[in-house]
Amino acid sequence: MAIDRDSLTLRHIRDVEDEVLNQFSCGRPQLDDFLREDARDYDAHGLTSTVIVFAEGYSSPVAYFSLTADSVHLSSGERTDLGLPFDAPISYYPAAKITKLAVMSELQRSGIGEALIELICGIVSTAPFAVRLLTVDAVNQEAVLNFYERTGFIESLSEKKERQSQKVRDTILMFKDLYQ
Ligand SMILES: CC(C)(COP(=O)(O)OP(=O)(O)OC[C@H]1O[C@@H](n2cnc3c(N)ncnc32)[C@H](O)[C@@H]1OP(=O)(O)O)[C@@H](O)C(=O)NCCC(=O)NCCS
Repeated sequence: MAIDRDSLTLRHIRDVEDEVLNQFSCGRPQLDDFLREDARDYDAHGLTSTVIVFAEGYSSPVAYFSLTADSVHLSSGERTDLGLPFDAPISYYPAAKITKLAVMSELQRSGIGEALIELICGIVSTAPFAVRLLTVDAVNQEAVLNFYERTGFIESLSEKKERQSQKVRDTILMFKDLYQ
């Protein structure tokens, strides 16, 4: 079922009732539980800010996402890829992290996730402070990695190197350059 991207509306979690949040399910318990049990407190205490997404014709939320300030260490190759026309003695580059992103089960694979990545890029690009990169700790599963690759994210080589001794990584740090 295709969703009209223009019909998506955003509401900050503080403006949404608990009963409405409880109606949301994306099929991944950690993400459903976070929304019901923790998102409000994390938001109120400056840890991660949560936005609830609604669509025309649906009384319950169709998605939610949470954002937090971040910074990323880049390898020399990754720094070159930024294409800066000058040398910047910067070790960590300013970023915003998608700490949570979930679409309701019935509407997955209908373009909402992709539309939200575009929206988030717009939101963080217009913040009154510099944000060069969008980051995410992507769940290490093919479907999720496909989604982030498709929406322009690449794996962080620095993190990959740092964690190369780990046989199984639960999450993969990925980033997207907002200036490309
Ligand atoms: C991952 C998630 C956010 C993606 O959102 P979505 O609205 O389902 O994704 P979209 O419909 O915008 O998909 C865009 C593209 O990503 C890729 N993709 C998305 N879901 C995929 C899947 N299950 N398998 C393979 N590729 C997938 C496809 O290339 C897709 O384009 P296509 O359908 O034209 O082939 C959503 O499926 C979700 O909430 N999953 C459960 C929670 C979760 O895992 N969150 C991520 C935590 S890091």
